[in-house]
Amino acid sequence: MHKLDIRAISHTYSVVIEQSSFDQMDFTPFSAIIIDQHLIKMYPLITEKMLNLPIFTYEATESNKSLAMVEQILLFLNNNHLTKSAHILIIGGGILNDTGGLVASLYMRGIKWSFVPTTLLSMVDACIGGKCAVNVNTHTHVIIKNLIGTIYPPHHVSIDPNFAQTLSHIQIYSGLAEVAKSAFLMQQYNNTILNTYFSLYNRMISNPSQQNKCLTDLIALSLGVKKFIVERDEFDINERRYLNFGHTFGHAIESATHYAIEHGLAVAIGMLCAIDFAKIYMGTQNNTITIFRQHIKEAILAPFPQLNDYIDAIKWQDFWHAFEGDKKHNTEFELILPSVTSGVSRVSFTKSHEVEENIKGILYQCLTR
Ligand SMILES: NC(=O)c1ccc[n+]([C@@H]2O[C@H](COP(=O)([O-])OP(=O)(O)OC[C@H]3O[C@@H](n4cnc5c(N)ncnc54)[C@H](O)[C@@H]3O)[C@@H](O)[C@H]2O)c1
Repeated sequence: MHKLDIRAISHTYSVVIEQSSFDQMDFTPFSAIIIDQHLIKMYPLITEKMLNLPIFTYEATESNKSLAMVEQILLFLNNNHLTKSAHILIIGGGILNDTGGLVASLYMRGIKWSFVPTTLLSMVDACIGGKCAVNVNTHTHVIIKNLIGTIYPPHHVSIDPNFAQTLSHIQIYSGLAEVAKSAFLMQQYNNTILNTYFSLYNRMISNPSQQNKCLTDLIALSLGVKKFIVERDEFDINERRYLNFGHTFGHAIESATHYAIEHGLAVAIGMLCAIDFAKIYMGTQNNTITIFRQHIKEAILAPFPQLNDYIDAIKWQDFWHAFEGDKKHNTEFELILPSVTSGVSRVSFTKSHEVEENIKGILYQCLTR
């Protein structure tokens, strides 16, 4: 069992990581549940546990992560007479976290919410830090991600790694990519964390009997990094931007492939792009960056050869439109790149034809280089 307390400006909240914790969960504090529709089908016992509580279910898709869905959930809460003192429980992956948290921040100007993350990605990353948002343009194929949102931390997070048992191989690797990212960026503050990640990863892959234990430790490692960062910069002005390592490229890849690639794997490809881009502009890279690049390429991405086809099929204009439109840029491109010393740093680039041509070259070759 691991327990972390996260100090947000508004309040401190706890995160508990424990095998089978969902089986013992007490539902009496909650006034309503918002849950991923697939989970109800996959875990039929869930509905028995929530007897008598109003339940809202929906399908976790990027097009359902919308203002229209937020309005539907707000109406559902109102129809069930929830008051300002209500406390809602959200159960699901990152999409439920982002939409449900936004609903909690808006209903009667804010009610309590707690979260049970059920994908590895949401266990290792989305569940803390309080970022909640929905997409716009969701009825077209040019979805604009996370444009409307708030920072509204949960009241409690309860992680039961057993939920990972029903995730696909690709969803597990998508979550692992975010853990690798966290371990890499943390090097400038803690120079042992990347090696701890590599040894947990290797132990998990080579020893199936230790998988659950290693996964629990990897979740704790990743959340330890995120806690460190969000407590220093909750509102995303300085260090929190480091968490975007791989994300500017990754979000543009997700958009240009119409969300056919899992978020974490798109971020992993994005990290390769960021490393290759840094090499052009900053020259020789240290051994750790080379080892990390190889790990991402061989251990995280190579098991999914279909990714090469997705990248080859990207229309450059679709990628570039999404890349240029990233909300993290200002008048210049702002990128999080591996630092020449250790970890990552924020670097600005003037928008130019040369930068565009370099990124184009990197994108189509990053998986084969
Ligand atoms: N707020 C944040 O800090 C933050 C961080 C990272 C990502 N995100 C957001 O998270 C979203 C991606 O989230 P995600 O990848 O966690 O999942 P998701 O919510 O997109 O769900 C992906 C799929 O997994 C299914 N699923 C959920 N739990 C399952 C389980 N235990 N077993 C089998 N299937 C299960 C869902 O039904 C869905 O089909 C993106 O919208 C991204 O922008 C937010």
